[in-house]
Amino acid sequence: MKAIVVTDQAAGTAGMTLTERPEPSAAINDVIVQIHASGFVPTEMEWPSTWTDRAGRDRTPSIPGHELAGVVAALGYGTTGLSVGQRVFGLADWHRDGTLAEYVAIEARNLAPLPGDVDFTVGASLPISGLTAWQGLFQHGRLQAGQTLLAHGAAGAVGTMVTQLAREAGAYVIGTGRAADREKALDFGAHEFVDLENDALEDVGGVDLVFDVIGGDVQKRSVALIKAGGTLVSVVGPVEARPADGLAVDFVVEADRAELGEIVQRARDRRLRTNIGDVASFDDAIDVLNPTTRRSGKTVIRIRP
Ligand SMILES: NC(=O)c1ccc[n+]([C@@H]2O[C@H](COP(=O)([O-])OP(=O)(O)OC[C@H]3O[C@@H](n4cnc5c(N)ncnc54)[C@H](OP(=O)(O)O)[C@@H]3O)[C@@H](O)[C@H]2O)c1
Repeated sequence: MKAIVVTDQAAGTAGMTLTERPEPSAAINDVIVQIHASGFVPTEMEWPSTWTDRAGRDRTPSIPGHELAGVVAALGYGTTGLSVGQRVFGLADWHRDGTLAEYVAIEARNLAPLPGDVDFTVGASLPISGLTAWQGLFQHGRLQAGQTLLAHGAAGAVGTMVTQLAREAGAYVIGTGRAADREKALDFGAHEFVDLENDALEDVGGVDLVFDVIGGDVQKRSVALIKAGGTLVSVVGPVEARPADGLAVDFVVEADRAELGEIVQRARDRRLRTNIGDVASFDDAIDVLNPTTRRSGKTVIRIRP
């Protein structure tokens, strides 16, 4: 099969090559998916799981990409709940070969049915950003209606999902980002926008929840804004600061079939708009995954035209 592989962590996405790899075989409870579209998070090249197996052993050449939409091609021994020919979408295991390939082997529990009226490109754009937003807001952040949320990077892939889901849940959303992101963040539903390059974050006042996708100094300054009993949720590694009287949580997104179902249903009925940036063919993927100018939105590769 055709696949994009990486062998050199220092080279990042510039080290990607489109090559031939053996088709994967299905282990117990696995599904082989013929991939139609794959989403991509650029920071994947920095994640240890792109380079090693669960025991820390080198697993290069590895196939990156962890979001997919496609069609079930085969089932492993004991796999139930999905059938050959079914449209699916989901989140591949971090430590296994990923979705920038014609086929992937993936545990069935990491997949959900993709309704027939949802395009594969849309399906591939949702798993990481949608699940990260859902889990950060509702499981880790325990967001309630009427609370105030500070949503960093609100025009980004995760941030636009955070903003929309939080608004639907009845929260007041203060989005942040670069000056150029203001219109997009407001368009996706932020009530206010703080330009981190020019505005004073400290002017925001008290918030119940901070959803951090940036880290560093921005995270440290945000913690001081959290009201007593509030929470910092971070998806950019171990938290670097904690609220004086509240919780700090960092987490890595997990696949969840029921939550994928909630997210795709919202995309179908327009409660959730996708934030898709570049869409490219498999042959053009490496160029698109190595942009020379600032890009916005989730990059999706159409593995099958
Ligand atoms: N732990 C997890 O499970 C998990 C899951 C999903 C994502 N993540 C991580 O979350 C981060 C965001 O992912 P994403 O897909 O949403 O990325 P994205 O689409 O690039 O969104 C991030 C947004 O934040 C902005 N931003 C970054 N640094 C900023 C700064 N210092 N000041 C102002 N704006 C800034 C970015 O602008 P620029 O593009 O101009 O920098 C972009 O608009 C990544 O580091 C990713 O690895 C973690």
